[in-house]
Amino acid sequence: MLSITLVINAVYVVCAALFIFGLKMMGHPSTARKGNLLSAVGMLAAIIVTLLDNAIVSYQWIFIAVCAGTLVGILAARLVAMTSMPEMVSLLNGVGGIASLLVAWASIHDAVEINQLMLLVGFLAILIGGVTFSGSVVAWAKLSERIAGRPLVFAGQKFVNLLIVTAIVVCGYLFVTQPQLDTVTYAVVGLALVFGIMLVLPIGGADMPVVISLLNSYSGLAACAAGFALQNNLLIVAGSLVGASGVILTQIMCKAMNRSLSNVLFSGFQSVVSSDMVIEGEVKPLSAEDAFYVLEAAQSVVVVPGYGMAVAQAQHALKELQDLLEENGCEVAYAIHPVAGRMPGHMNVLLAEADVSYEQLFEMDEINPRMETFDVAMVIGANDVVNPAAREMQGSPIYGMPVINADLAKNVFVFKRSMASGFAGIDNPLFFKDNSNMIFGDAKDSLNAIIRQFDDD
Ligand code: TAP
Repeated sequence: MLSITLVINAVYVVCAALFIFGLKMMGHPSTARKGNLLSAVGMLAAIIVTLLDNAIVSYQWIFIAVCAGTLVGILAARLVAMTSMPEMVSLLNGVGGIASLLVAWASIHDAVEINQLMLLVGFLAILIGGVTFSGSVVAWAKLSERIAGRPLVFAGQKFVNLLIVTAIVVCGYLFVTQPQLDTVTYAVVGLALVFGIMLVLPIGGADMPVVISLLNSYSGLAACAAGFALQNNLLIVAGSLVGASGVILTQIMCKAMNRSLSNVLFSGFQSVVSSDMVIEGEVKPLSAEDAFYVLEAAQSVVVVPGYGMAVAQAQHALKELQDLLEENGCEVAYAIHPVAGRMPGHMNVLLAEADVSYEQLFEMDEINPRMETFDVAMVIGANDVVNPAAREMQGSPIYGMPVINADLAKNVFVFKRSMASGFAGIDNPLFFKDNSNMIFGDAKDSLNAIIRQFDDD
């Protein structure tokens, strides 16, 4: 028996190492796929050795669950659009949270002998798991516009939250000291679910992806606590990795938006910042034919992709245009903002799908100092991440957010369908600048129209 435990733990150490190396490799686009595969192999090994454990009750049910999970995973991976990934991630976080809640609850319920430390970690797993589950479901509903996406606040919200927190502390105490009371467990589960809803309701708009990353981190913490409750070393390690990486990602996003985490979490409680922006200048639409003449003569072009490129699925047309420009002797670079799109790495994934070389992708801090040297900046469905109000207009809600300075290029072509604002819901003075032209229409259609001009030439 001892030897099986030893083997399991030895394999767990290898799995943990695979997770860590996998995560490290995911840090760079060229190694990301291998990193993903390495971590998946680690997870497969972890599942296999866990099944050797004598605590397994029913292999049939595990087999059914694995088949059902695999089917749902394959369908989701094939059917869910890239633009809906944040909703998908949100649901996955929620599933992780509820799994930790159920595992911790079951392990405490079935325990023959249990000490107060185990009860405390079990309580934490149920609490964090419940908060993650209901918070993620609300985040999913907001992102998929099943409920209003804006922050939802009501009078006395802080007081209600205080009451909930007090009730959680009291129930937590009872849970640890009187574990035989089933009603206390039900109360903890109920309070956790309500608290998750209350935490996410007042958050909305551009802050939602940050909340999702935070909920991802919570799901890791819940798994970690469930790992302690189950005394499973690998669950503790995997949960900690998810928890820590979620926190790091949350920090990166907050930094890229020039916001503090507390501002993101509690901004719904404050009045919305009003902006008295007065934008001068005129909007100058440009035809594909005129854009072609400028691009044909350009020596250097920088492309700034944003969420609209994902909506239009314009990455392949963009690559085709890039090839034509390069054949014409033009240098093409891509400027990637850390929060362009709707999830971290969104643009990198789409451009990689279209075989754009990693060497041509530049981060904001690398490209901004060179911006003035580019003949044309092609802004493809980006809006907030190129909004110069962040630099120039003190009253703007995004003032201070680091942006890609596309307006400093010699010419700016903005590809979008209308004058509508971006995710942050604010006007963009870039569209009115003297060096700026609007190429109205779906980004893919507009790019194809320019490509046709090259072909006709
Ligand atoms: P946005 O500011 O959201 O602007 C996207 C633009 O794409 C819109 O103005 C829209 O204008 C245009 N568009 C939509 N569909 C299009 C189509 N088919 N063809 C052409 N254009 C289309 O995007 P962004 O600049 O990428 O900024 C991202 C926003 O998300 C920021 O506010 C950021 O803070 C927020 N955010 C992102 C993240 C992550 S991790 N990415 C995290 C937190 C917050 P039309 O409707 O006129 O076409």
